[in-house]
Amino acid sequence: MKILVTGGAGFIGSHIADAALAQGWSVRVMDSLDPGLHPSPPVFDPRVEIVTGDVTDAAAVESALQGIDTVCHQSAKVGLGVSFADAPDYIHNNDYATAILLAAMERRSITCLVLASSMVVYGEGAYTDPDTGLPVRPVPAARPTCWPATTIPATRKPAQPSSPR
Ligand SMILES: NC(=O)c1ccc[n+]([C@@H]2O[C@H](COP(=O)([O-])OP(=O)(O)OC[C@H]3O[C@@H](n4cnc5c(N)ncnc54)[C@H](O)[C@@H]3O)[C@@H](O)[C@H]2O)c1
Repeated sequence: MKILVTGGAGFIGSHIADAALAQGWSVRVMDSLDPGLHPSPPVFDPRVEIVTGDVTDAAAVESALQGIDTVCHQSAKVGLGVSFADAPDYIHNNDYATAILLAAMERRSITCLVLASSMVVYGEGAYTDPDTGLPVRPVPAARPTCWPATTIPATRKPAQPSSPR
């Protein structure tokens, strides 16, 4: 089985690439290797196949998906506290790129996609375990058959009912 890790030269993606290799997967990494983020070439296990390309580039994505069974999508422009003036750039790099990727996967009937989530989605500190009252965090649980290992969020219950806005 072969996995494509977009953003595989980044913090999360590089660990996923290593973890997938350790579980016996063939790994291809696609990363734009933005020199601002990667002033020197990242070092990979020699078994990792590196494709330098941008996920906003439909032709590059099409090519990177050849022979791929599963995609782990970690490429993103990240950062907090940026100006709203940067929104078009973020939307292009993150949302548009994801749409390009999904369309290409659909054409190739690749149905397994693993995405990075975020504390923003889970609402850091916003949920507690109903039995213990402790804050809930994602924990390892079952895994889909198309993925070597994953984390799936525990059942959540809002700590406080949200008021309508
Ligand atoms: N780091 C964390 O603690 C954390 C926590 C929660 C969620 N996440 C999410 O995980 C994902 C990855 O985060 P990270 O911390 O590894 O970021 P990172 O900046 O370390 O890695 C992102 C990688 O994506 C590449 N990239 C960016 N845009 C690209 C594009 N259009 N085409 C190809 N490559 C591109 C960059 O070159 C970089 O190597 C993001 O979606 C982020 O929101 C990260």
